[in-house]
Amino acid sequence: MDRFSLPFLFLFSLLLLSSALVSTVTSSDLDDDEPLIRQVVSSDDDGDGNDHLLNADHHFSVFKSKFAKTYATQEEHDYRFGVFKANLRRAKRHQVLDPSAVHGVTKFSDLTPSEFRRQFLGLNRRIRLPSDAHKAPILPTNDLPADFDWRDHGAVTGVKDQGSCGSCWSFSATGALEGAHFLATGELASLSEQQLVDCDHECDPEEHGACDSGCSGGLMTTAFEYTLKVGGLEREKDYPYTGTDRGACKFDRTKVVASVSNFSVVAIDEDQIAANLVKNGPLAVGINAVFMQTYIKGVSCPYICGKHLDHGVLLVGYGSAGYAPIRFKEKPYWIIKNSWGESWGENGYYKICKGHNICGVDSMVSTVAAIHATSQ
Ligand SMILES: *[C@@H]1O[C@H](CO)[C@@H](O)[C@H](O)[C@H]1NC(C)=O
Repeated sequence: MDRFSLPFLFLFSLLLLSSALVSTVTSSDLDDDEPLIRQVVSSDDDGDGNDHLLNADHHFSVFKSKFAKTYATQEEHDYRFGVFKANLRRAKRHQVLDPSAVHGVTKFSDLTPSEFRRQFLGLNRRIRLPSDAHKAPILPTNDLPADFDWRDHGAVTGVKDQGSCGSCWSFSATGALEGAHFLATGELASLSEQQLVDCDHECDPEEHGACDSGCSGGLMTTAFEYTLKVGGLEREKDYPYTGTDRGACKFDRTKVVASVSNFSVVAIDEDQIAANLVKNGPLAVGINAVFMQTYIKGVSCPYICGKHLDHGVLLVGYGSAGYAPIRFKEKPYWIIKNSWGESWGENGYYKICKGHNICGVDSMVSTVAAIHATSQ
């Protein structure tokens, strides 16, 4: 038995054990994967007694200076140090469950999981997965390249930062339309998320009460629907991002630069996802972001990950090059553009393994096509 299979079998048997418990887990428990992750990795470092093993004081000092963190009061400082220590333990658990990635201290390490979700995610909850409305046609998959990255073809703008606003959905939507607009016109234009945050209140026809609502969340497909209806999106520089949703809509139709011609939902099939990516440009995808709070680099391939989607991101490519210890060789992955700035992850990007709908990454994929907008 090699080094890989023994811990894996151990985790697997714990997983079977915990799956018996999962059936009793309510949907509100599923707001946070941590209880399940804790059940599976109930490591001895989980207590408060041995923080010195984690070298928490030192890590917290480095964290504060690296990310220029200041706290208004000593109480706040002490509270954040407690949260930070809990996140060091989480990062260790994530590392055990996700050995092909590196987990550790990130700029989110002083936030509780629920603060993190509220402030930095923002995908509207869907009970049902996208239905057949605008289903993407099935594409041939026999000629797909082994590796593909839209960044190499000029279809992807620089990494943006949603700040402390649950507007991930708007960044995912602009990223897909930026790529589609590039394919339609040859021009790479950075598009306005703020227009979506301020002006798009479109509701999901299938999900009662799920309406795009600025920093409180939204969906990429409804953002495409809005964009289709109003005629398009302005440039980033004409309608710049503020990261708040308290302003009135300042949309100026004469400044539209990119317009949607049509959009559709891609089947939950990794070959179809790859084929749509290569043919139509970067894709808007939903993902479960629980492992992303502690992600540093590498290919994330957790043994367990929730499939409820809470974050909207942009799928820009895929690869399979060797990237990690030999035992993980040639594991194929998706390349994901995130909207948390370049100081997060691999210069703002995330790699997640391909092949098993890990963290729900295949579950909510949409593709958009652009028309050339005639500027007036
Ligand atoms: C747009 O519509 C055309 C024609 O129906 C279809 O072939 C194409 O796949 C659609 N594109 C997207 C991105 O939905």
